[in-house]
Amino acid sequence: MIAIDNLQLNAQGQLQHFLSIEGLNRELLTEILDTAESFADLSAQNIKKTPLLRGKTIVNLFFENSTRTRATFELAAARLSADVMSMNIATSATSKGESLLDTIRNLEAMQVDMFVVRHALSGAAHFIAQHTAPHISVVNAGDGQHEHPTQAMLDMFTIRRVKKQFSNLRVAIIGDILHSRVARSQIHALTLLGVEEIRVIAPKTLLPTGIEDLGVNVFYDLQTGLKDIDVIIMLRLQKERMNSAFLPNEREYFKCFGLSAERLKIANKGAMVMHPGPINRGVEIASEVADGEQSVILQQVSYGIPVRMAVMSMVMNHTNGVG
Ligand code: NCD
Repeated sequence: MIAIDNLQLNAQGQLQHFLSIEGLNRELLTEILDTAESFADLSAQNIKKTPLLRGKTIVNLFFENSTRTRATFELAAARLSADVMSMNIATSATSKGESLLDTIRNLEAMQVDMFVVRHALSGAAHFIAQHTAPHISVVNAGDGQHEHPTQAMLDMFTIRRVKKQFSNLRVAIIGDILHSRVARSQIHALTLLGVEEIRVIAPKTLLPTGIEDLGVNVFYDLQTGLKDIDVIIMLRLQKERMNSAFLPNEREYFKCFGLSAERLKIANKGAMVMHPGPINRGVEIASEVADGEQSVILQQVSYGIPVRMAVMSMVMNHTNGVG
């Protein structure tokens, strides 16, 4: 695990960068959720824009594929009236051998104010934050298997909207925990927000060693693990990050760890079903559950916009006195 220092907070404890949930506190997470509420109201209106970041330039640096995250970061920046540029790294000079820092230096020379970074290496956003000019904010849009903090915040926003509070909730995170930066961020966020219990449910091969140290209860059996659960978070099998030794096969995996309509009945009545996407239908989740009444998967996507607006306006607020 990477040591994250307090680089993301300034001396007043305000957000300067948004790199990980680890290292933040309950007050800050609540401030993000409350700020996102006001932007969610705006998203529901006919004119969805606010001039909050007018004149600011945001660069999306996506070194790894993304659909939802990239699109909602772009829309969030546009709705804050910022100028936004998305760099296609596969066709940029980085693929010609330019170093990451050289790419950053060149973009800095274009007077940018914020980098939104997705990278296959854990710690990449943190590294850029350490090396970039002090007035520039860095937002982590997913770094390797480390963290995906805006995804966790939009998940917390979705949970709060549906369940109203955190303290009485039992949450199960199910599936490929080993490769999941989302799970790591969620565990930190749920802990800070004070849920009753966090369970992780997975085959042994898909659990990182020492996961118990994060204060979660480990289950290797889905039927037992789903009992008394209020919030079910399914994770995608990250096949691109594994070799065949991790699993027997997908059909077998669904039989043991897939969320079917039948299994969903084991959880508490009205349990909400979440998934950060992209979903593998019939692998970790049955179509009828993904599209069913208890699923909030598309709400999660919608809430990505107000939550990312909240994070971007808060990090800019600290550096440039906006607001
Ligand atoms: C996740 C990611 O990229 O970490 N997706 C997302 O951002 N919505 C999870 C995944 O890829 O399974």
